[in-house]
Amino acid sequence: MVDLFGRNIDYARISITDRCNYRCIYCMPEEGVNFIPHEEILRFEEIVRIIKILKELGIKKVRLTGGEPLVRKNVVELIRRITEIKLDDVSLTTNGSLLKIYAEDLFKSGLRRLNISLDTLNCERFTSITRKGTLIDVLEGIEKAISVGFNPVKLNVVVMKGINDQDDLIALANLTREREIHVRFIEIMPIGDNDQNDKFISCEEIMENISKFFKLESTKGPFGNGPAEYYKLENSKGTIGFISPLSKHFCAKCNRIRITSDGMIRLCLFSDVEYNLKEKLRSNLTDEEIKKFILETLFYKPKGHPYIQKAREIYHRNMSAIGG
Ligand code: GTP
Ligand code: 5AD
Ligand code: SF4
Repeated sequence: MVDLFGRNIDYARISITDRCNYRCIYCMPEEGVNFIPHEEILRFEEIVRIIKILKELGIKKVRLTGGEPLVRKNVVELIRRITEIKLDDVSLTTNGSLLKIYAEDLFKSGLRRLNISLDTLNCERFTSITRKGTLIDVLEGIEKAISVGFNPVKLNVVVMKGINDQDDLIALANLTREREIHVRFIEIMPIGDNDQNDKFISCEEIMENISKFFKLESTKGPFGNGPAEYYKLENSKGTIGFISPLSKHFCAKCNRIRITSDGMIRLCLFSDVEYNLKEKLRSNLTDEEIKKFILETLFYKPKGHPYIQKAREIYHRNMSAIGG
């Protein structure tokens, strides 16, 4: 699939649930959000059908997201059915809290690659950022994932000014020295329920903070389909990535579409315009007709996004309902 701006769209991010067991401060309000009613959520057969259709349209890579994807009932079975479709790549973004329980079965289901959110290595800070989480659960989950064979394992760090932009950067970067772990620092995006503009810190500043302690060398990153730019510390086994959706946005190279857990096609993370794929799936259309609908929506994929300061006021979804 090629869009109007010549971008090859071969990557789909599919949110399999909007529910989450955490309430991260950059994602959801403390009281949580109203979750989408169960009957509105795509069923396994519908997700599998969409992926098969997308494959025929040229999608080669699928990332499953949430909310927290591992809270979806029978998630391992769903992933087994998805890996059977034989795409070039299937991966999952998770908060890591349930990996201790699921890592082995996920690996057996054919999944090979995980991105895990981890914003700090300080126990108290972890609980205050996630509002509900316990650091040790995620650390044990990461260990389990590595031990059963997941590779690459990437850690996503949303960096927030005054919260985790100093010692945490160093502690997290240090994880890459001895282990093949890939730590990615991400600029906070103004999608969510909190005013995040005062927490914004650019990747350039993050890099400056790290460079006070370590020398960073530019390097090729681990396998992936996303926008991170990678560096490494001298002689380290892992890498350090930077994801700058705001200061250096990657719209010109955007290769993706998103499907929300309630079956809406979202063509840009920052565009609230959505197309109702679920309605089409539930109205007895043939695969060919659905393909045509998806291709038509692609005309509307925007060229890029402006830096929207007040995004949280205009978007009807939180990050948890989009899947990042
Ligand atoms: P790989 O490189 O394939 O491992 O995946 P990824 O980095 O694209 O996926 P992940 O779910 O780990 O996302 C990392 C960060 O990048 C998250 O904060 C996402 O919200 C952000 N991100 C991913 N895709 C986009 C995008 O299209 N636009 C913007 N603005 N941010 C994105
Ligand atoms: N800004 C940047 N990244 C975010 N994520 C969630 N909310 C935000 C935000 N407001 C990240 C999570 C997860 C990924 C899918 O998106 O940390 O790793
Ligand atoms: Fe849950 Fe991820 Fe949102 Fe945190 S960022 S509340 S883990 S969906």
